[in-house]
Amino acid sequence: MKTAGLEGVVAAISEISLVDGNKGHLVYRGHWAKDLAISYSFEEVAYLLWYGSLPNKTELHEFGEILKANRRLPDYIKTIIDNLPEKMELMSVLRTVVSAMGTEEYQWPSTTEQALSLTAVLPTVISYRYRRINGLSPIEPSDNLNHVANFLYMLKEEQPSQSHVKALSAYLILTMEHGMNASTFTARVIASTQSDLASAISGAIGAMKGPLHGGAPSGVIELLDEIGSKENAEDVLRRKLKGGERLMGFGHRVYKTQDPRAEALRTITAEFSEDDPWFSLANEVEDLAIELLNEYKPGRKLYTNVEFYAAAILKAIDLPTELFTSAFTSSRIIGWIANVLEQNENNRIIRPASEYSGPMPE
Ligand code: CMC
Repeated sequence: MKTAGLEGVVAAISEISLVDGNKGHLVYRGHWAKDLAISYSFEEVAYLLWYGSLPNKTELHEFGEILKANRRLPDYIKTIIDNLPEKMELMSVLRTVVSAMGTEEYQWPSTTEQALSLTAVLPTVISYRYRRINGLSPIEPSDNLNHVANFLYMLKEEQPSQSHVKALSAYLILTMEHGMNASTFTARVIASTQSDLASAISGAIGAMKGPLHGGAPSGVIELLDEIGSKENAEDVLRRKLKGGERLMGFGHRVYKTQDPRAEALRTITAEFSEDDPWFSLANEVEDLAIELLNEYKPGRKLYTNVEFYAAAILKAIDLPTELFTSAFTSSRIIGWIANVLEQNENNRIIRPASEYSGPMPE
C-alpha cells in the first residue's frame, strides 16, 4: 500500500468510535456523539470511552472524585512551568509537563489510574500557565465543581454560568475522539512499543500541535470579526468567494454532508443565541454561507464543519484564542487514552514497512 498520508489504510480494528463521512455519523461506543454532547457530562462520556459503557451513579461519583483528587499540580511541576521560557507556546508547555509527569508510577502497561491523573491535571496546567504568563495569580482547583466548570473557574476566578459550562462540555465531548487521526495514531504507535502512558500522551500532544491537525479555529473568528454584523454578511462572503478565498469553518475532507459535531454544537448554541452576539452572528451567517457556497461551488457538498461553531462557542464563553488548541487537547486526551488502553489489550508492535528507492552499493 503506497497511499500518500496512509489515506484509507486501516491501522486498527477498534470498538471506540466510528466516523462515517458520507452519512455524517460520529458514534462513540454505540452512542451518537451528538446525543452524548447534549445530554451527558464530560465525566460520563470519558468513562464510556475508556470502559465501554456509561457509568451508573456510584461509578460516576467515584470517577469524578478521583479526577478531583488529581487536579492539583505537584510542586516540582509548578517549578518546571515557572522556569520555562515565557515565549514557549502553551502546547509545548503541555507536552513538557506531561513528559515530566512520567515518573516510575507511569510504567507500562497503562492503567486507568494513570489516565485519570493525566486527564485531571491538564486543565490545571493550562490555567496555571495562562494566568502566570498574564501576570495573574494561579487559582487552586475547586473540589465543588466538576471537570469542565472547574476548568473555567481556574481560568477566570469566578463561578461559571451553567450555560457556559454546558457549551464548553459539549465542545469537549464532541472533540474527545475521532477515529485514527494523526495524534491518536501517534499514541497507539508509542503504546505498542510497551512504552509508558506519559510518553504516549506527550508524543500525541506533539502531533496535535502541528497546524495541519490541532490548528485553532481562529480563521473562523477572523471571518466573524470581519463580517461584524448580519447586514455586512452577504457583501463579505460574496467578496471572498468571488476572490477564490475559502470560507473558514466550511467544508471537510471526510464529511461530505453535515458534520455531526457542527450540528450538535448548533443545537446547543440555539439555547443561548438570543443573548450572545457571537452565537447570533454565527447562526445568521451559517445559512447564507451555505447558500452562497452552493452558488459559487455547486456540487462540492460544502457544509459547516465543527470549527465554525467551536469558534463561536469558545469566543462566546470568552476563552482566549491562544487557549483553543490546548482546550482541544484537554478533551482529545480521552480518546488517546481509550486507544492506548485498547492497544494494550491485544498488543503487537506497530511496525509498518517502507520501500527503498535509493541506490544500491556498487
Ligand atoms: N470555502 C470555499 N470553497 C471551498 C471550501 C471553503 N471552505 N472548502 C472547499 N472548497 C472548494 C474548493 O475550493 C474546491 O473547489 P474546486 O473544485 O473549484 O477546486 C472544492 O471545494 C473541493 O475542495 P478540496 O480542497 O478538494 O477539499 P478538501 O476535502 O481537500 O478540503 C478542507 C477540506 C477542510 C481543507 C476545506 O474544505 C477547507 O479548506 N475548509 C476551510 C478551512 C476549515 O474550515 N478547516 C477546518 C476543517 S474541520 C477540522 C477537522 O475535523 O479536521
